[in-house]
Amino acid sequence: MHFDSVILHAAELLTLAGASHTPKLGTELAELGIIKDGAVAIQENRIAAVGTTREIEKLVKAGTRPKVIDATGKTVLPGFVDPHAHLAFAGTREKEFVQKIQGASYMEILEAGGGINVTVKATRKASRKTLVRLGQHTLNRMLRYGTTTVEGKSGYGLEPKHEYKQLLAIRDLNLIHPIDVVPTFMGAHVVPQKYKDRPEHYVKLVMEKMIPTVAKKGMAEFCDVFAEEGVFDINQSRRILNRAKEYDLIPKVHADEMTTLGGAELAAEVGAISADHLLKVSNQGIQALAKAQVVAVLLPATAFVLMEKEYAPARKLIDAGVPVALATDYNPNCMTESMQLILTLACLNMRMTPAEAIAAATINAAHAINRSHVVGSLEPNKQADILIIDTPNHAHIPYHFGINLVEKVIKNGKIAFSAQ
Ligand code: NIG
Ligand code: FE
Repeated sequence: MHFDSVILHAAELLTLAGASHTPKLGTELAELGIIKDGAVAIQENRIAAVGTTREIEKLVKAGTRPKVIDATGKTVLPGFVDPHAHLAFAGTREKEFVQKIQGASYMEILEAGGGINVTVKATRKASRKTLVRLGQHTLNRMLRYGTTTVEGKSGYGLEPKHEYKQLLAIRDLNLIHPIDVVPTFMGAHVVPQKYKDRPEHYVKLVMEKMIPTVAKKGMAEFCDVFAEEGVFDINQSRRILNRAKEYDLIPKVHADEMTTLGGAELAAEVGAISADHLLKVSNQGIQALAKAQVVAVLLPATAFVLMEKEYAPARKLIDAGVPVALATDYNPNCMTESMQLILTLACLNMRMTPAEAIAAATINAAHAINRSHVVGSLEPNKQADILIIDTPNHAHIPYHFGINLVEKVIKNGKIAFSAQ
């Protein structure tokens, strides 16, 4: 066969194969499909073959000379999929970082007009072009740290024209940057200050104006709601998500993050593709997620920046048969682009094993954004989004933390980042 390039001699090649149709559940989550002395062949932007180095070398057609990328002593795996990130916003919130250290809670800061409101002000002032420039910096950092597909949520405009501007900036980013960016409309992020005394008016604006426009103009695939005490209650969240469904936007929920509100149950009820956060999910909520096979997207960096003692109950979720994924929750409160850090936090604070964390950050993460047929594993015909990590085995990825272990990122078959 003719290949454009081949990666040879990986100490461990993690295929994550066999879970493109349904996510990895229970004990399957720890099965990475490891090939020792592994190799991948690439043709244009696709994976052409996967196997041992001997097998792939045999497939190389005599007389052809594919580019050889040597991975001796390294770990090769699919690019990370980050299925929960807030993108294309302006401004930063390091002042709140200090306030939190001094004892203020996230909700206190939000209720006093800080938090999301501060980012909304800055984002409204910024042009689409500025948002794209800022987003590019974010995506560049994500790429260097091994993310090749990311979800991007709006939610810092909270007015029709500014929500559309943010979504259009996200669309621009997808077009100009090597990373694939999957857009989510999150007009229901908080009730903007102008509507503080009449939240129903804002809910109506989201349902009657924003959702139809976003859907008709193809600006998003998903619709997310922050279901939380003092933000959107379950009933409002349900109405918004049901409206989204009428317009073929797939529901997602910021669920049971600060309080046990029933966000997980709502996600199951409306057939959401994912329920995210879940720090305070009830046993009933876990059962509902398992039954409806909603992906639980866990965000340990958020628990970390909120200085929570209790993280999401990953072990309980896995044992109950809920598909579990991991994401950064990159936002101005949770400023990390690094899925490598997420793996370390997932292992040490949620007691996921390195293998489970890697599956949750690749194939299961792809399921959380409807991309499991194109990314998340190394299998023939999938997009050639591949990481070469400078570690002798996969456990080193979360174990050796706080530095960037990525040696090369191959995106759509081309080297998009190289450490040397
Ligand atoms: O997922 N919880 C709500 N939304 C974001 C935070 C957004 C912000 O603070 O700007 C989250 O953590
Ligand atoms: Fe979030």
